Amino acid sequence: MPTVHIDQTSQWGALRDHAEEVKPRHLRDLFAQDPDRATRMTVPAGDLHLDFSKHRATAVTMSLLADLAAEAQVQERFAAMLRGERLNVTEDRAVLHTALRQPAGTSLHVDGQDVIGDVQGVLGRMEHFCRRVHSGDWRGATGERIRSVVNIGIGGSDLGPAMAYEALRAYGDRRVACHFVSNVDGDDIAENLIGLEPASTLFVVASKTFTTLETMTNAATAKSWITTALGDGAVARHFVAVSTNAEAVADFGIDIEQMFGFWDWVGGRYSVDSAIGLSLMLGIGPEHFRAFLDGFHQIDRHTATAPAEVNAPLQMALLGVWYRNFFGWQSHAVLPYCQELSRFPAYLQQLDMESNGKQVHLDGTPLDIDTGPIVWGTAGTNGQHAYYQLLHQGTTIVPADLLGFGRPVHDDLGGHHDLLMANLFAQGEALAFGRPAETVRAAGIPAELVPHRTFPGNRPTTTILAPRLTPSVLGQLIALYEHKVFFQGALWGINSFDQWGVELGKVLAQQIVPELAAEAGAVMSHDPSTNALIERYRTLRDHPPD
Ligand code: F6P
Repeated sequence: MPTVHIDQTSQWGALRDHAEEVKPRHLRDLFAQDPDRATRMTVPAGDLHLDFSKHRATAVTMSLLADLAAEAQVQERFAAMLRGERLNVTEDRAVLHTALRQPAGTSLHVDGQDVIGDVQGVLGRMEHFCRRVHSGDWRGATGERIRSVVNIGIGGSDLGPAMAYEALRAYGDRRVACHFVSNVDGDDIAENLIGLEPASTLFVVASKTFTTLETMTNAATAKSWITTALGDGAVARHFVAVSTNAEAVADFGIDIEQMFGFWDWVGGRYSVDSAIGLSLMLGIGPEHFRAFLDGFHQIDRHTATAPAEVNAPLQMALLGVWYRNFFGWQSHAVLPYCQELSRFPAYLQQLDMESNGKQVHLDGTPLDIDTGPIVWGTAGTNGQHAYYQLLHQGTTIVPADLLGFGRPVHDDLGGHHDLLMANLFAQGEALAFGRPAETVRAAGIPAELVPHRTFPGNRPTTTILAPRLTPSVLGQLIALYEHKVFFQGALWGINSFDQWGVELGKVLAQQIVPELAAEAGAVMSHDPSTNALIERYRTLRDHPPD
C-alpha cells in the first residue's frame, strides 16, 4: 500500500476549512441545536459504551473525518495487519498481536506457518506451569511452595503485566502475590525483595530481546539473591524466562525448557497478551487470563467489521487527529474513575507515545504535521485534587477520556461507588458546559470575583462506561486503545511499530558507564555541560558531603 501524505489530500483541506467554522462554536450551542447528539454519537463496542457527544464536532465534522479515513484506507490497513502483512517496514516484520487472542481452533498462516497453533501451544504450556505452581506441584529448591512471583522486565515487558495485575488481582485467589521490578535503580529491586523469602520466590525474567540493560542487571541481582541463600542449584526452581531469544536465556543459566516464547511479530508494547503475561496469569489464574484474551478478541472483531461511523477505536482516532492537527492541542488525558486502573495511563503512555511519537512518514520523508499527543493521567478522583484546576480554567485545552464502571471490583463498602461515579459525570458536564459569567453573577458572587469563578467549558471528553472491570473488559479496553493508536498511525502515514527513538540514549549510556568508573579528571568527549555533570556526579558519589 502506498504511503499516504494525508495533509496533501483534498479531505485534509476540507477539514482545515471546516475547523474554522467549528472553533467558535460552544458545546452548549451544539447540544442546544442538536439535542439528539448524545444518542446519535454514542457507540457500543463489546461491553463498552462510548459517548462521543461532548466533542467539538458536528455531524459534518464526523463525516469529513470519515472521508479522511477512507482516503487513507485505514480500515484496509487494519485488515492487512490482521492478515499478517509486514506493516513494520523498518524492521521488516509482521504486526500480529491480534493473533495472540484469536480463538483456539482457528488458523492464520504467515510464511507457511500456522501462528495460531504456535500461540495456543505456548498458552497451553503457560497454563500447565501456572497450575503446577498453584497446586504446589512446582516448588522451590527447598520444597517450599511458591508464594511470591517477581516479574523482572521493563517497558512492554513490565507495564502491561504490572498494570493488568493491579487491575485484576482481586480475581486471583491470592495463592501467589506478584511484584514487579523494572528500574535499573537498585532501590527498586531492594525494596521489592524486602519481606520476600528466597525459598518461596519465583522470578519471571521477561524480556523480548533478553539483552535489555535494566532487566539483565536486575536478573543478575536476583540470581545472586537466590544463590546466596539457596546455592547455585536453586536457579532451576526459582527462575523462568519469557523471551524470543533462547540463546541468551540459556547463557543466563535458565534451561530453555523453562522458557516461554513469543515471536518477533509481537511488539513489546503489544505483548501483555503473549507469554509476557505469565506473571499476570500466575496472579489471576489461567481461566481469567483466557477471559482477558477473549475481551481483546471481541474488540478486534468489532474493529474489523464495524462501519466507520460506529467503529469505536476509529472514532477515537479521528477525534484525536481533529484536535491534534486542526486545533493544535498537544496532550490527551486518560482519567479512569477506578483505583484498579491507576496504572492504565502509564501503560497507555508507552502504547501511544512509543508507537506514534514519530517524525517521518513510512517512506522516510519528513512530516509537516503533528503526530502523537502527550498521553497522561491518573485515577479519578485523586486527579481532581491535583491538576483538574488546569483542565477547567487553564489556558491550554486537554481532551480527556473519562472511564467508569457500573459496579466496583470489590463489594461496595457503602456508597463509595455512587460518589465516585457522581464525580465522573460532574467532571464531564463541567468541562463541556462550564459556568458562564452570567450564572456566576446571578448567584450573587461579588463582581471582582466573577472572572475567577467563571468556567469557560467547551472542553471535550469521551466517556467510556462498562458494567464492571473484569478480565474481559480490561482486554477490551486495551484493544480499544491499541486500535485507536493503529488508526492514528495509519492516518499520519507513519510506522507505529518501531521505536528507533529509544536507541540514542541507550548507546550514550553504554559509553558513559565506563567513564563513571574512571578516575576524577579523566578526559571525556561529551559536550561541556555533560562532562561537568559527570565530573560533579563522581565527586558527589566518592566524596559525599557530611
Ligand atoms: O524502550 C524500548 C523497548 O525496546 C520497548 O519497546 C520494550 O518494550 C522494552 O524496551 C523492553 O524490551 P525487552 O522486552 O526486549 O527487554
